[in-house]
Amino acid sequence: MVYEVRDRRNLDEMGYYDYAATMGIPYFHWGGLGASDRITELLEIDNNTRVLVVGCGTGYSACRIAMNTGCHLIGVDISPSMVEKARKRVAEWGVEDRVEFQQGDAYKLDFGDAEFDVLMTEFVSVFLEKPRAFHEFARVLRPGGKLGVNELFLADEIPPEVKPKIERVLEGFEQAVGLPLKIPTMSQWKTYFAEAGLENTGQEIVDYKYRIREIEDVVGGTWKLLRMIGRVAWDMARNGKFRRRMMPIGRLKDVLMRNRETKGYAGAVLCVGTKPA
Ligand SMILES: C[S@@+](CC[C@H](N)C(=O)[O-])C[C@H]1O[C@@H](n2cnc3c(N)ncnc32)[C@H](O)[C@@H]1O
Repeated sequence: MVYEVRDRRNLDEMGYYDYAATMGIPYFHWGGLGASDRITELLEIDNNTRVLVVGCGTGYSACRIAMNTGCHLIGVDISPSMVEKARKRVAEWGVEDRVEFQQGDAYKLDFGDAEFDVLMTEFVSVFLEKPRAFHEFARVLRPGGKLGVNELFLADEIPPEVKPKIERVLEGFEQAVGLPLKIPTMSQWKTYFAEAGLENTGQEIVDYKYRIREIEDVVGGTWKLLRMIGRVAWDMARNGKFRRRMMPIGRLKDVLMRNRETKGYAGAVLCVGTKPA
């Protein structure tokens, strides 16, 4: 089902990402647009590259990559509401000649073998069973093609007094979004790449400062941002069950970025690996 803003009457039945799509939230990954720019560079995307973005959300980051590089890009997402928003963006941004969005499942991509030069995910692979998904990702990449992920990582060693705090927040987030959140360590990410047959995997930790200015710009200005915040606040005020479900989403940001005790033990990482030629 495709949800619109007016469907917020059905908050209890809407999944988190359907709700976020109705709000028109442009992107949902850590590291902001700086991380998307950097992974675009690492993947060497240019106007000849055929790119598949899996879990494209409302398509902001995907359309921006296509605008900046001139590449040909297909985005897929499991949520019809996300795909609907992303398709509207294609028309608004005038990138019909090189960007297309489809509903699709990361585990069963509706493409033939070796169709893409690059496949990327941004805050999507953490929700997936990595061996199954990465095997499918490698299938649709041509030999010499690249897989890039802009995702979260956990530190290899987390002190026993800190670990439960992080785990509690991750569990709450998982329940809020209704998807299993499994964040690997840096070395586990490398292992998943290797197990999918990808080689020369490089990793770069994202140095990110949360910038309200960037959020204002991408949603279309201060007033639009305030209207969005107002709508979410209203929905939380009128529906206690929804409020309790959504609270852990904000807590994840605190744990990753603000809380002095926990913030050093998790972060965003860019990983890029190559399918052997
Ligand atoms: C945290 S959002 C990130 C969206 C986008 N990549 C971004 O950075 O803004 C996760 C997205 O993954 C999508 N998703 C979750 N499981 C999926 C699957 N199995 N196949 C395709 N998309 C999926 C969700 O619908 C959601 O849009």
